[in-house]
Amino acid sequence: MGHGLLAGKKGIIFGALDSRSIAWKVAERAVEEGATIVLTNAPVAMRLGEINELATKLNAQIIPADATSLEDLENLFTQSMEILGGKIDFVLHAIGMSVNIRKKKEYTDLNYEWMKTTLDVSSMSFHKMMQVAYKMDAMQEFGSIVALTYIAAQRTFPDYGEMAESKALLESFARSFGYHYAKKAKVRVNTISQSPTMTTAGSGVKGFTDFFGYADKMSPLGNASADACADYCVTMFSDLTRMVTMQNLFHDGGFSSMGMAPELLED
Ligand SMILES: NC(=O)c1ccc[n+]([C@@H]2O[C@H](COP(=O)([O-])OP(=O)(O)OC[C@H]3O[C@@H](n4cnc5c(N)ncnc54)[C@H](O)[C@@H]3O)[C@@H](O)[C@H]2O)c1
Repeated sequence: MGHGLLAGKKGIIFGALDSRSIAWKVAERAVEEGATIVLTNAPVAMRLGEINELATKLNAQIIPADATSLEDLENLFTQSMEILGGKIDFVLHAIGMSVNIRKKKEYTDLNYEWMKTTLDVSSMSFHKMMQVAYKMDAMQEFGSIVALTYIAAQRTFPDYGEMAESKALLESFARSFGYHYAKKAKVRVNTISQSPTMTTAGSGVKGFTDFFGYADKMSPLGNASADACADYCVTMFSDLTRMVTMQNLFHDGGFSSMGMAPELLED
C-alpha cells in the first residue's frame, strides 16, 4: 500500500531488465507511491529483458539509452522532460556490468581494454548522466539522484573482481558531483550499498549462491531484499530526506558493522 510519498513527482529509472532487477522493484514502488516515471535501459536489454511488460503494467514509457553514450543520455533527458511535463525529481542509476567477470578473467590477469568498458558502463555512466542533467538544468530543486553500489568498494571480496574499483569510483562520483549539484540547484546525490541480491548482475559473480548464504548469516537482520531496497530508494527520493547528500548509505541488514557472527561458527 502506498503512502503518497512521491505524489506528483517525476522520475527516470535506469536498469530494469527483468522482474528480479532491483530497478524493477524500485519502479513498481515509485509508481505505487504516486510518481510518474520513464524507464530506460540499453537497447540490447530491450531485446533480452522483459521491460515492455513492466512499462505496460506501470503505464510508463521506455526510452532506450546506452548509459555510456552522451548523445543517448541527452535524448533521454530531453524526451523524459517532454513526456513527464517538466523537470525531473528523481533518478535511479542501477547499472553494473564487468566484462572481465563475464569472461571469467581472474583479477590478477585483467584485460585492461575490457576493464575500460567495465568502468565506463558501471561508473562513468553515473558521471555522464549527472553531467548531462546538470548542463541541461534538468533536475528539480531538492531532486534526488541515487546509484546502487556494493560494500566491495570498502572491503575486499575476492570474487567481485574489478567491480570493486567500479563501485569505489561510483561512490566517489556521488560525493564529488554531489557538491557541485547541491551548490548549483540543491540536488542531492547518494549511493545505496545493497546486500547481495539474486539478480542477473548479482548471480554473475563466482560462488554467489554460497556467498549469499554467508552474508545472510553475517547480517543480524539477514540480507536486505530487492523489495526492501526499493522501499529505501523511495524514502531517498521523497521530501523526507531533503538534507541527505554525498553519502554512501548501507542497506544491508547490519552486515557492514559486523566483525564476527557466532552463527557462522556453528556449521
Ligand atoms: N545483485 C546484487 O547482489 C547487488 C548488490 C549490490 C549492488 N548491486 C547493484 O545494483 C545495480 C542493479 O543491478 P541488479 O542486481 O538489479 O542486476 P540487473 O542485471 O537486473 O541490472 C543491471 C542493469 O544494468 C543494465 N546495463 C548494462 N549495461 C548498460 C548500459 N551500457 N547502458 C544502460 N544500462 C546498462 C542492464 O541492462 C541491467 O538492466 C547494479 O549497479 C549492481 O551492481 C547489485
